[in-house]
Amino acid sequence: MAQAQDAGRLRLGVNIDHVATVRNARGSAYPDPVRAALLAEAAGADGITAHLREDRRHIRDADIAGLMAALARPLNFECAATAEMQAIALRHRPHAICLVPEKREERTTEGGLDVAFDQNRLTDFIAPLRDAGIRVSMFIGHDPKQIEASARIGAAVVELHTGHYCDLHHEGRFAERDAELAALAEGAQLAHALGLEVHAGHGLTFDTVGPIAALPEVRELNIGHFLIGEAIYLGLGPAIAEMRRRMDAARA
Ligand code: PXP
Repeated sequence: MAQAQDAGRLRLGVNIDHVATVRNARGSAYPDPVRAALLAEAAGADGITAHLREDRRHIRDADIAGLMAALARPLNFECAATAEMQAIALRHRPHAICLVPEKREERTTEGGLDVAFDQNRLTDFIAPLRDAGIRVSMFIGHDPKQIEASARIGAAVVELHTGHYCDLHHEGRFAERDAELAALAEGAQLAHALGLEVHAGHGLTFDTVGPIAALPEVRELNIGHFLIGEAIYLGLGPAIAEMRRRMDAARA
């Protein structure tokens, strides 16, 4: 997201997909994800993330257009590496694009992208996006093979998948969680050493954000599902403010 901002500050990108999930569950016009995004900006989000899935199960094309028109902060457009999504990205020219693997039957983005396997295709895929001035991010696991491949194909950013770390925490498997955290820390170091900007996200909550926010190479966290759920109890603004407070405390 915005490079002009303080270089050392950990940025918070708020993912508003699940506002659209609630809207679509009733086929209504509300709640509006664009309104939620504006509220998130007002509450201190450094950017907004939205995932346009192939099946349009939450965010729709009109939401992307609405976000591009309304946002003051950068949009991180998350999508699969398909020709359709490339055309949409080139039409809207968001600040950043985050490429994710997508399976129709999954409930959420379950794993990272296999950049090493798909290296040649992804190199060609991201070239026009880079030429259009869009920052390209790869959503990957902490496997060094995937990090090195992301650097080789010319991605600017890697976003490390924190979902497994969060699951292990919430299942009480703390030794495995700590091993996963150590692997994420090593991945962040390697990515940084290769000149990649390091982001992280997926499944983060108030309880799990601290150790990830504390990794010095990590520059941005993208958090959605927990914040939208927590908004039921606290309101979206206070939930974001509390996440920000925990990020800052961990960083300090
Ligand atoms: N980053 C990426 C690349 C994602 O796919 C997602 C989920 O859409 C997130 C971050 C946010 O994950 P969560 O909604 O679990 O916080």
